[in-house]
Amino acid sequence: MKKDFLAVADFTPEELNDFINLAIDLKKEYFQHGNQPLLKGKVLALIFSKPSLRTRISFEMGMRHLGGDALFISPNEIGLGKRESIADVARVLSGYVQGIMARVFEHQHVVELAKWADIPVINGLSDYNHPCQAMADILTIKEEFGTLPGLNVTYVGDGNNVAVSLMHVCAKLGVNFSIASPEDYDMPETAITVARTFAAESKASLHFYRDPHEAVKNANVIYTDTWTSMGQEEEAQKRERVFPPYQVNQALLKEAHANAIVMHCLPAHRGQEITDQVADGAQSRLFPQAHNRLHAQKAIVLRLMQDQ
Ligand code: CP
Ligand code: NVA
Repeated sequence: MKKDFLAVADFTPEELNDFINLAIDLKKEYFQHGNQPLLKGKVLALIFSKPSLRTRISFEMGMRHLGGDALFISPNEIGLGKRESIADVARVLSGYVQGIMARVFEHQHVVELAKWADIPVINGLSDYNHPCQAMADILTIKEEFGTLPGLNVTYVGDGNNVAVSLMHVCAKLGVNFSIASPEDYDMPETAITVARTFAAESKASLHFYRDPHEAVKNANVIYTDTWTSMGQEEEAQKRERVFPPYQVNQALLKEAHANAIVMHCLPAHRGQEITDQVADGAQSRLFPQAHNRLHAQKAIVLRLMQDQ
């Protein structure tokens, strides 16, 4: 298995299923018996170049549950690639801690960290992808429906980092994936090309739409995310003019399966990409999904750090 968790695309379907099953076991164990010191004495450094609620707290709590510790490093501190080169940061931290989680702007920065660190590096979101989110998402979907192959997941909105990882985990695990995004806001072509190879292996289908109404037909899961990701703030006004037809609201939800669930990685911009009625409605799984970040990531840190 890879030393680092930079992309779901780097793992085989068997490895991804192992992460999911381990997360299910760890979750059950935690609710039945509490903490388990499986990473006793191990420390994960958390480097953040952007803000976070879920990623920071779920990694911190996950390490505590496993008897280890986490060390938060704020955006103002190490100045990744500015105050000091990424290669030097990676080599210094490798002597202090047993793992690094990093949230960065440029995806290349986590790749560079992983290249130079002797210890595992976990991608906590980059401009290209958000693999820890995708693992919590697929865990949530499996818990809901019991099995993954053949389900239909539809993402509505910006073809962003969250969409890329979701598409890849679906394509790896035989889950049919559709996306409806406006022109000029498609996912990167390279991400689509690799997804096609995974989908061919797993027999998943991939569909790309402009019309959200067409895309949600037969959906078991409707997924959305912010129209403006961190780092794109200067485009916010333009995006707010383009994206309103892609709002996940009650009318759109009615066009999916009657038992469809709604997901969002959060933070949500209520009234923009999702309405209160849907976010707080009976079909919403927004909070179980956020809580599953904890359990999915405990499986990731355990597999990566247990031998460090
Ligand atoms: N979904 C997610 O990664 O949330 P945070 O930005 O709060 O970590
Ligand atoms: N696409 C969003 C996800 C936040 C968790 C962003 O990158 O800001």
